[in-house]
Amino acid sequence: MTPPARPKLASAHAIITGGSSGIGLATAHLLVSRGAAVSLVARGRERLEAAAAELRSSGGTVAFRTADVCDKAAVETAFTDLERELGKPCDVLVTSAGVARPGNFLDLPDEVFHEMMTVDYFGTLHCMRAVLPGMTQRRRGSVVAVSSAAGLMGIFGYGAYGPAKFAVRGLMESLRAEMAPYGVHVGVVFPPDVNTPQLVEENRWKPEETRAIAGTIRPLSPEQVAAAIVAGMERRRFVICPDIGTRVLARWGGVLAPVLNAEFDRRVRKVRRHRSRTCTD
Ligand SMILES: NC(=O)c1ccc[n+]([C@@H]2O[C@H](COP(=O)([O-])OP(=O)(O)OC[C@H]3O[C@@H](n4cnc5c(N)ncnc54)[C@H](OP(=O)(O)O)[C@@H]3O)[C@@H](O)[C@H]2O)c1
Repeated sequence: MTPPARPKLASAHAIITGGSSGIGLATAHLLVSRGAAVSLVARGRERLEAAAAELRSSGGTVAFRTADVCDKAAVETAFTDLERELGKPCDVLVTSAGVARPGNFLDLPDEVFHEMMTVDYFGTLHCMRAVLPGMTQRRRGSVVAVSSAAGLMGIFGYGAYGPAKFAVRGLMESLRAEMAPYGVHVGVVFPPDVNTPQLVEENRWKPEETRAIAGTIRPLSPEQVAAAIVAGMERRRFVICPDIGTRVLARWGGVLAPVLNAEFDRRVRKVRRHRSRTCTD
């Protein structure tokens, strides 16, 4: 049996949700440099316009639409319009639109749990549902969803965000199996902390314990994650890990969980001891 063809990025039409910022924008830059025509989808027009101008100035063929990925009909309309504008069906989909809101489980309002699932999980699902019927008919294509290291193991402070990213991983695992007979590549990315506007926002809410768990690990650049995404697409990888830490976690997480949990619990106790000492001083 001949293996499925690698995606020809030079003639591909790539749709990237969350393409106006961070990981999505860095992926758009890399795909443009490979010759792909790129479509960006996000809610804010200003950042989309700026991103498109930036990409066009480096020679890219770029289109964009505003849409909220939580709105299934809006996603379908945006994708159809973009395919019409660029004259090509979607060959590559990267779902990078997402939000992260850490916090103590006992303090987080119910709305945050709903928001994480609505944006991160259903926002991914709607995009997959929009492109996969066409890809299976054409028997080619590549879909890559951005999950998170928080989708590989439960972490203190990620009681709302983590489960949504676990759901993305679960969806992609099922899709990998179902799309394989059609030759459609399915991938899922597990970035650790990445230097983007989302991380800045996230840091405003992170409990001290969550910071202590991350320790002194330096965030990756969005370009490092984009390079892993494009390499993963070209090699038709399912699990895409941009660094050694998440690679180990993705492969050995089940085995390592007791050790990691013990270490993370120790860091949490240390923060709390310190807090109670400083409160009584
Ligand atoms: N940064 C990290 O440390 C990190 C780590 C692991 C995983 N991730 C994941 O990586 C993905 C990209 O994050 P990033 O760090 O690159 O964040 P970012 O720089 O803040 O970019 C997020 C993008 O998603 C768009 N977006 C957000 N909500 C949307 C919605 N409802 N509908 C459509 N577009 C929406 C934003 O544009 P608008 O606001 O204009 O819509 C923006 O283009 C996310 O799924 C995130 O959870 C990030």
